[in-house]
Amino acid sequence: MMKMMIYRAVCHKEAAVPVVKLIMVSLVLQVLLLGLQLLPGAVALVSTCRTSCGNIAIKYPFGVDDGCGAPQFRHMLNCSTELFFLTPSGNYKVESIDYDKQTMVVYDPAMSTCSILQPHHDFKMTDIQSAIIPPTSDTVFALLNCSIDSPVLNHYSYLCFNFSGHSCDELYGACNAFRVFHFLTNSSPPCCFTGYDTVKFMSMNILDCTHYTTVVNTDGLRGIAPLDWVYGIKLTYTLPEAGCQRCAQSGGTCGFDTETEGRLCLCSASSNSTRQCGTHIPK
Ligand SMILES: *[C@@H]1O[C@H](CO)[C@@H](O)[C@H](O)[C@H]1NC(C)=O
Ligand SMILES: *[C@@H]1O[C@H](CO)[C@@H](O)[C@H](O)[C@H]1NC(C)=O
Ligand SMILES: *[C@@H]1O[C@H](CO)[C@@H](O)[C@H](O)[C@H]1NC(C)=O
Ligand SMILES: *[C@@H]1O[C@H](CO)[C@@H](O)[C@H](O)[C@H]1NC(C)=O
Repeated sequence: MMKMMIYRAVCHKEAAVPVVKLIMVSLVLQVLLLGLQLLPGAVALVSTCRTSCGNIAIKYPFGVDDGCGAPQFRHMLNCSTELFFLTPSGNYKVESIDYDKQTMVVYDPAMSTCSILQPHHDFKMTDIQSAIIPPTSDTVFALLNCSIDSPVLNHYSYLCFNFSGHSCDELYGACNAFRVFHFLTNSSPPCCFTGYDTVKFMSMNILDCTHYTTVVNTDGLRGIAPLDWVYGIKLTYTLPEAGCQRCAQSGGTCGFDTETEGRLCLCSASSNSTRQCGTHIPK
């Protein structure tokens, strides 16, 4: 309004058309300038840390965009329509993350379950993964159709444990997928219920078992039939010692420098403070 009046005042003797043109040009310039100011913000919004993937929330220490989350967990997750946990033996679908209990349930699409029999492949994690996000003790690995020469039936038989009173026979007889083992041999080939450490140190070839499956939440499975077991691998993670609390409380997102892996508190597109955003100091 002010500008219009000034234009009018200055230009009132000129024709009306140039005045309108001047106003138009000034408006266009203002809109352009406004757009330029907003642009970096808009770009940053798109490129900052995603907070979910599919229906799974992504929070510290995890991140699906590089530079987000804790550097120790870098390159462990991949969000391509669904969330995947990346290991040397393949990409495992993430079924859920429990941020209170600090657990993550993943699923090996290539393993056998009650409904499908698939040739074994190893479950292999990096050394860092084994250290900071190992499978829980209530994840049981069931090694199936082991040869009588298998180390877990001989020298290392102590690695197999009594899994809540469940037997190989029960597993082989419980569902169509595993019944095949009965048919072929007309008897029950040996199996072994064991923990992650066994498959961590011995590949399936060394173990000499043709198939395996994994079951989670095994603490409560006494008397429950294999059809009702939950197949998957539950991992438990530890939070990095230098926590994220201070940054999160100041409204930032914990991340790291992608070159140095030094920790950062991601505040906004225009500022990265190392510890917290702004001058807010929590007591
Ligand atoms: C993420 O995982 C999917 C599914 O396994 C795969 O197709 C894709 O190539 C992966 N992307 C990256 C960057 O690893
Ligand atoms: C079970 O293992 C034997 C070798 O020990 C193999 O010949 C047989 O094909 C396996 N059974 C199935 C169903 O894969
Ligand atoms: C496993 O334990 C149950 C009791 O909980 C027992 O009846 C069964 O014989 C044991 N099985 C083996 C193979 O030791
Ligand atoms: C802040 O850190 C993020 C992640 O490392 C980086 O992408 C961004 O360029 C940084 N911003 C500034 C202003 O340094």
